[in-house]
Amino acid sequence: MKIISSPGEMTAWAAKQAGAGKRIGLVPTMGFFHAGHLGLMRLAGRHADLVVVSLFVNPAQFGPGEDLAAYPRDFDRDRELAEKEGVAVLFVPDAASMYPGGFQTTVRVGRLTRYLCGASRPGHFDGVATVVCKLFHITAADCAVFGEKDFQQLAVIRRMVADLNMAVEIIGHPIVREADGLALSSRNAYLDERSRNSALCLSRALALAQKSAAEGILETRELAGRLRDFILAFPGTEIDYIAFIDSRSLEPVAAVDADTRLALAVKINGRVRLIDNGPVLQPTASPGATA
Ligand code: PAJ
Repeated sequence: MKIISSPGEMTAWAAKQAGAGKRIGLVPTMGFFHAGHLGLMRLAGRHADLVVVSLFVNPAQFGPGEDLAAYPRDFDRDRELAEKEGVAVLFVPDAASMYPGGFQTTVRVGRLTRYLCGASRPGHFDGVATVVCKLFHITAADCAVFGEKDFQQLAVIRRMVADLNMAVEIIGHPIVREADGLALSSRNAYLDERSRNSALCLSRALALAQKSAAEGILETRELAGRLRDFILAFPGTEIDYIAFIDSRSLEPVAAVDADTRLALAVKINGRVRLIDNGPVLQPTASPGATA
């Protein structure tokens, strides 16, 4: 596996491979790999000849007071894990090479970024769309894999690609979970034993919503009220949002139907903000799926 840190060198490598007819699959990440990231790499390998994984903790998508400096990092471990997955290139640029002096361009996706995490984290999706656009160009990606764990991010990237006529196939990967339902996240590293237990409120709330809907409670105001009480019964939880949304527009819906998704963001012990999501009118298959 090649380690490349310079965007110029990455572009030169990609141009050479594209010239040789190779299909390049990109997996953008911020590192501290877990089974979710590795699943994305494996899926990319099924859609491409060569997999490029980018590892860049992108300052542009963190707001003031967020966890940019504390974001977990372990380059040696990440390198080993990526190598084992047969990754061709681990692209590890630094902030100065991605945002050199004079940088002043932003990719902003409209309505889709107003809801959910876009509302709680102003500017976050501008940072995501801009860096992903850059990564697509630098790596000459033919396809790219994103996790459904960040459902809104996946929707925003699909929109950007369609709106800007980017020739990149976007592939979604289902949420990878621990055996007890907790969605894998690099931020789970912040959880001690007690808060790890409270973090289960998200996947359990999804299961509760699915159960309640299956029993015929479809009015989302009533469902949200139940979920609020349920989540707040876990110690140290603070709700950012409980949103029943249309899975395409991400707009809130009044009653659950087959296209409804539940999206949750909960802060644990005032410190760790976790997100989760899933369909409402389906068996508990997604929350139960294991790593
Ligand atoms: P990061 O949080 O490192 O996630 C990288 C990719 O892994 C994203 O597509 C995310 O949705 C996916 N992922 C994370 N946890 C997952 C899980 N439990 N199951 C399935 N997929 C999971 O998302 C980012 O980085 C950044 O915003 C990035 C796209 C790299 C832009 O900076």
